[in-house]
Amino acid sequence: MRTIAFVTQKGGSGKSTIASSLAVAAHEAGERVFIFDLDPQQSLTKWSKTRGEADIPVESVTPGKLPAALAALAKGGVTLCIIDTAGAESPATAAAMKAADLNVIPARPNAFDLWATEQTRKTLRDMRRDFVFLLNQCPPSQQNSRVEEGVKALEAMGGLISPLVSSRVDYQEAARHGFGVSELNPSGHAADEMRKLWSSLKRRLAKVKGVMPSKKAA
Ligand SMILES: Nc1ncnc2c1ncn2[C@@H]1O[C@H](COP(=O)(O)OP(=O)(O)OP(=O)(O)O)[C@@H](O)[C@H]1O
Ligand SMILES: [Mg+2]
Repeated sequence: MRTIAFVTQKGGSGKSTIASSLAVAAHEAGERVFIFDLDPQQSLTKWSKTRGEADIPVESVTPGKLPAALAALAKGGVTLCIIDTAGAESPATAAAMKAADLNVIPARPNAFDLWATEQTRKTLRDMRRDFVFLLNQCPPSQQNSRVEEGVKALEAMGGLISPLVSSRVDYQEAARHGFGVSELNPSGHAADEMRKLWSSLKRRLAKVKGVMPSKKAA
């Protein structure tokens, strides 16, 4: 099993939105996906209730119980666990960062988000945890100096995962209805972005020391 945590102390950068659509895209690609919702706002727990399906279970867990809960999932045949966290440093966020094979730090292409990622990066570096940045809510044209600046800054800080994720209504509509974007509009640009994001993350996870791609979905 591989574990991805969405972390950044910056609220509203898109952790829950991308986590839910990525979970669906990975599930469609053959992974057995489980989500731990470590955010007291319970965004993904509410998303799951709206979804009303058991295909991608969403549960909460206390930070102290997270390692044992992850071990139990792996034993039960889950191949991908996605952890969503609150937009603030907390024991739950620290536990998620520590448990994850890879931490994803979403940031919007604006100065405040980019500055805030510095702190998250420092925390992860101090903990010696692996991480990548994800640039979210880019203007769909992408020919924009603000985006270019964001790309440069995040690449310099340690690595940006592809693709750039655009600002699209599909992300908001999918979340509202308990879907992933690839279910809401399978042929849309957002669906394409989430399938590509899962491919990139899967490749990146395969490079994490000691973590091999699952046989089933390799
Ligand atoms: N790519 C996108 N396109 C359009 N809207 C987006 C996109 N990503 C996120 N949003 C919107 O931005 C807002 C914040 O997103 P979200 O709640 O996922 O952020 P978050 O990082 O989980 O926030 P919090 O730290 O409060 O949990 C939401 O209204 C969401 O619909
Ligand atoms: Mg959230």
